[in-house]
Amino acid sequence: MLQAVALQDPVQDDQANFNAVVNALAGQGWCVIPDFMPPEQWQPLAAEAKQLYAAGEFRLARVGHGDAAKVRPDVRTDRVRWIDPLEATPLQQAYLERMEALRLFINGELSTGLFDFEGHFALYPKGCFYRRHLDRFADAKHRAVSCIQYLNEDWKPEDGGNLRIYLPDGKGKETYTDIQPIGGSAVIFLSDQFHHMVMPSKRERLSLTGWFCKRR
Ligand code: OGA
Ligand code: MN
Repeated sequence: MLQAVALQDPVQDDQANFNAVVNALAGQGWCVIPDFMPPEQWQPLAAEAKQLYAAGEFRLARVGHGDAAKVRPDVRTDRVRWIDPLEATPLQQAYLERMEALRLFINGELSTGLFDFEGHFALYPKGCFYRRHLDRFADAKHRAVSCIQYLNEDWKPEDGGNLRIYLPDGKGKETYTDIQPIGGSAVIFLSDQFHHMVMPSKRERLSLTGWFCKRR
């Protein structure tokens, strides 16, 4: 008897999503990919993040880079837990492998010279925010492409916590677009081009945030 064929082909889906990312990076410089990660991948990652948080493994996020980095509750109040490739769980390993595949794909299509990837879980407890900023540090310009993978079940507009990305309006001024942190969706943008902020979140908000970096 014939076996049922899987409806979704992960390789095909990746191809379409990866192409969309490359086209966006070469064009407007940013994109939202609604189904970047299927629920069977992001839901267990969300559960793992919550366990790590409950175990006290997250730290107040800092602003700045290297020795100058400091906790600035006036700027951001999220908590982060870096992903250590040497101690990654199988789920985190699968995420890192996927980002590695995307890195190689972007490099092949755009000759961008993305050299490596760094990423962390980010958890915004209720009421937390991250004020307007650019992901590229003034004193360390290695971050080239920002990738935010959302891990939130049933996000509703009234939950707040939108990512607001500021965009040129084409007439020398700026406008913005607001993106809900819906589980499975990802936002990818050129780190040095787009100011952005996380609006105050009215419920716990989870993501996996990472950056493709150039050689330091
Ligand atoms: C960041 C950031 C945005 C988001 O961590 O630098 O801007 O939507 N995150 O979580
Ligand atoms: Mn940012």
